[in-house]
Amino acid sequence: MCDREWFSGTLLDWYDLNARTLPWRIGPAERAIGKRPDPYHVWLSEIMLQQTTVPVVEKYFTRFVSRWPTVHDLASAKDEDIMEAWAGLGYYARARNLVTSARIVSGDFGGEFPRDVAELRALPGIGPYTAAAIAAIAFDKPVAVVDGNVKRVLARLGGSRSIPSGIGELQRLALGMTPGTRPGDYAQAVMDLGAMVCRPRAPRCGTCPWTSRCAAHAAGSPENFAVRNPPQRGPERKGIAYVAIREDGAVLLERRPSRGLLGGTLGWPGSAWSESGVPQAPPCRANWRRLDRRVRHRFTHFDLLVEVMKADVPLGCSPDRGFFVDRSAFSSAQLPTVMRKIWDLAASSAEARRPDSIP
Ligand code: ADE
Repeated sequence: MCDREWFSGTLLDWYDLNARTLPWRIGPAERAIGKRPDPYHVWLSEIMLQQTTVPVVEKYFTRFVSRWPTVHDLASAKDEDIMEAWAGLGYYARARNLVTSARIVSGDFGGEFPRDVAELRALPGIGPYTAAAIAAIAFDKPVAVVDGNVKRVLARLGGSRSIPSGIGELQRLALGMTPGTRPGDYAQAVMDLGAMVCRPRAPRCGTCPWTSRCAAHAAGSPENFAVRNPPQRGPERKGIAYVAIREDGAVLLERRPSRGLLGGTLGWPGSAWSESGVPQAPPCRANWRRLDRRVRHRFTHFDLLVEVMKADVPLGCSPDRGFFVDRSAFSSAQLPTVMRKIWDLAASSAEARRPDSIP
């Protein structure tokens, strides 16, 4: 039996018994009787899974497909509704690309997703990994699907202490193991193996179908192979946010510019975020009180520390930026996580013992 047959055969047998049940997935038993996943579901889940964990994505995915059951529905949704439904998933450029891609697929391709890796890559937000994952899972194309989990599995098999930085070698290895039959199941099987068995810190080698050919296992300490470099901590940036609550309960929000960090999302008026901290006048005259705690939030490239100012403002208040949202229409779930943290603090926190008023 050649390597490809052995690796794919043993893994597919394992997958048939151990596949995770996921809301976007057609499991191996159903696939075996000819059921195929909806390419819209595969695409949506893969975009959501970029940089976000499976348990978080499961909730968002289910909400999205019940609200927008087809790519046409998503394409005709309002940008703001999609941004708000995306709130909390992070990396908001993904949501902007999602809308653009949905409109291309719905308008230019009649709702049919392209089947080829190269055509898929032409859609915004689809890189080499996502294109391969969609081609394999939705269309059973025998392509190499190499994400972070798969890299760890392959690096351990080959006995590599670190995860190779170049993708070429792993891609060749992965392609050499990908079977011509059931490539969609195989792609998902390697992902499941990486997530459930070949885990970063506590691999469960006792349940792995590949231990007999794994160099890291043979060495006796598989967790010391394919070790990820610790993430570099970014510099700290500072900012200020103003939470204005009107007499009738309405809150003052603004929509951030569509490009850039958190682009297109709702947030509290405030300063730019910078290492030195830039002063920012409040959005309206009021008795602003500084809260006694600050909000910390970690972005990929920097840590943010936000000072929160809060004020009760009268009904006639006319701010020089932002707009009031009635309390009945406001839910902090519409906000990206950092803005939600600011609200949680403002809604619950005491003011500083040494109030610093800004008229
Ligand atoms: N991670 C990325 N894509 C995935 C998928 N389709 N199933 C499980 N985990 C994944």
